[in-house]
Formats: sequence, structure tokens, C-alpha cells
Amino acid sequence: MSKPVVAIVGATGAVGVEFLQLLAERDFPLAELRLLASPRSAGKTMKFKGTELKVEALTAEAFRGVDIALFSAGGGISREYAAVAVRHGAVVVDNSSAFRMDADVPLVIPEVNPEAVKTHKGIIANPNCSTIIAITPLWPIHQLNPVKRLIAATYQAASGAGAAGMAELEESTRAYLAGGTHEPKVFPHPYAFNLFSHNTKIDPANGYNEEELKMVKETRKIFGDASIRISSTCIRVPVLRAHAIALDVEFERPITPDEVRRILSKAPGVRVVDDPAMNYFPMPKDASGQGDILAGRIRTDISDPSGRSIALFVAGDQLLKGAALNAVQIAELL
Ligand code: A2P
Repeated sequence: MSKPVVAIVGATGAVGVEFLQLLAERDFPLAELRLLASPRSAGKTMKFKGTELKVEALTAEAFRGVDIALFSAGGGISREYAAVAVRHGAVVVDNSSAFRMDADVPLVIPEVNPEAVKTHKGIIANPNCSTIIAITPLWPIHQLNPVKRLIAATYQAASGAGAAGMAELEESTRAYLAGGTHEPKVFPHPYAFNLFSHNTKIDPANGYNEEELKMVKETRKIFGDASIRISSTCIRVPVLRAHAIALDVEFERPITPDEVRRILSKAPGVRVVDDPAMNYFPMPKDASGQGDILAGRIRTDISDPSGRSIALFVAGDQLLKGAALNAVQIAELL
């Protein structure tokens, strides 16, 4: 696979556009790049390294000769077409939640568990965006002092709901500022100057929504440690494309903020932004368009007198490390 044929499923979407950009920027070796989307987009062109590539409608035939298929067109499309792509000989890197918890599907963050890629049987899953952004910075600390308990509160951007979600934030904000009204279509509540609980189904058994349970289950699978206790509250905020997350982490042994800062300053994919004097900490504005996850506000959690708990705040680009970049890094491992 020195020069693979790569297909992007959902090329016209918010993540799809980032796939194109990253493959060009990182000079990903390519024999051919095939852009697939819904029949609505067939015939449109998209720019790649100075040339115009035609978008094709997604069909089973479109996977003929494809070596790597990057899927980001929603769980339904993944469920329908991932097996088809595999049958045609492709390895699928899937950005949806369709296969993440399947026992024979590796769930990979290249900075955390790159070796898991080798165990794939045709499909590799890209983790949930909030999970990637929360736990990539925790992994190098976990290696030295295991995480026992994690409490997360997310501030999630519109991009998690795709291009239509981002458009809804912009349109509703424009309407609000013009004194008009805006009928929400993508989200269940007015988005401008508001925030609300993540719009996934709530499990009546425990009151957590699907997004929150993804962080619980996926973290345990990626870290290979089913004993980590995790609670998460997922909130959608009026930010375009970077998630921020408040983390409270209890480790096995006492740990100081300086130790955490030292570990994170060397961690791949992480940049420490932690300046109490200037009150400068991770912000979605700074994380947007960046591959690195920003980490800061690193302090001892004073509610735990044992000295084993650290509070911190992270921000990462949902479309990049939370989705397209992580998937392209997986494709690079392949
Ligand atoms: P299209 O632009 O033609 O609708 P986002 O995550 O930004 O909402 O993007 C979703 C991506 O999935 C888009 O590229 C979209 O294509 C694609 N998509 C949606 N429905 C289908 C479908 N039925 N078949 C193939 N691609 C689809």
C-alpha cells in the first residue's frame, strides 16, 4: 500500500472538506483520490492540490480498487457501506459511532494505542470527538500514574452536527442580532446566545445521554482499562468548531500540577497553554484550525485532600483532532 487509492465518503461534509485539506497538507501518498457523497452532490467539483476533482454519488461500485476508505457521512451510511468497501478489499477508517464498541473493531487514537491498528479485520473506528480531545492529554500521565476516576464537563461546538449544524449557529445568530426569529432545524433548541444538553438520546436506566456514555465506554476501550470510573456531562455551546472540556481526574497516587505540566509539555499532539498571570488558558478560538489539543488551568483539585486529583481544561478542534486529523493519522499508520 505504498501509494493507495483513497476514497472519502462524505467528501462534501464538514469533516470531508478537512480530509481533503489534510491529505494535501500532509502530502499523503496517493495513487488516486475518489470523492463520494450523496447524489445531490454528484458532478460538483472540489479542489485538491490545485486540480478540480469530481464528486461521485456513493454506490457499491465506487469502492472498486479502493485501498483505504475514510467514512464520515453518518452512522447509517457506515452501516450500509463499510462492509461493501471491505468486500472490495478496502480498509475502512470510520468516523461514525457505528462500530466503535464492536469487539473486533480497533478504536484508535494514534498517540495512545497505535498498535491496535494491526488487529483490524477491515474496519478501524475513529473515537468520539469529545473523547479524543479529553483523553489524548491524559494518556501520557496515565502511563506514569494511572487514572482511577474521570469527571468531564464538555462545551461542544456546532461542528459536531456537521455543516448544517454550523450553518444553524451562524443563521440563528444573524437572525437574533437583526431582531428576527429563527426556527431551529438541526438542533432541538434555539442556538444563538444559548447552550443546551447534548441532543442525543437519554438512557432511561441511568439518565446519561449517548454522547456522555460514549466517553465512558470508549475511554475504557482505548486505555484498555475497564476499571476507570467516569462521569460526563455533555453540553452544546455556541462555538463553531472547537470543543472545550473541563476535566477532573483522580490518579492512583498523589500528583502535582508541575508534574502534569512537565508530562504534557512533552506529550505528542498536546500543547500546554497555562498562564495564570495573564489569565490565558485554552480557548476554542485558539484551538480552531490547530492539530494540537490545548491543555491548561492545571491545578490540584482542592476537594480531594489526598492530593491525587487534578483539575484541568482542554480545547481541541472538533473537525481536526476530533475527526479528520485522527482518521488521517490512522490512515498514515496503515
Ligand atoms: P451531501 O453533501 O451530498 O449531502 P455533514 O457531516 O457536514 O452533515 O456532511 C455529511 C456528508 O455525508 C456529506 O458529504 C453528505 O453529502 C454525505 N451524505 C449524506 N447523505 C448521504 C447519502 N445518502 N449517501 C452518500 N453520502 C451522503
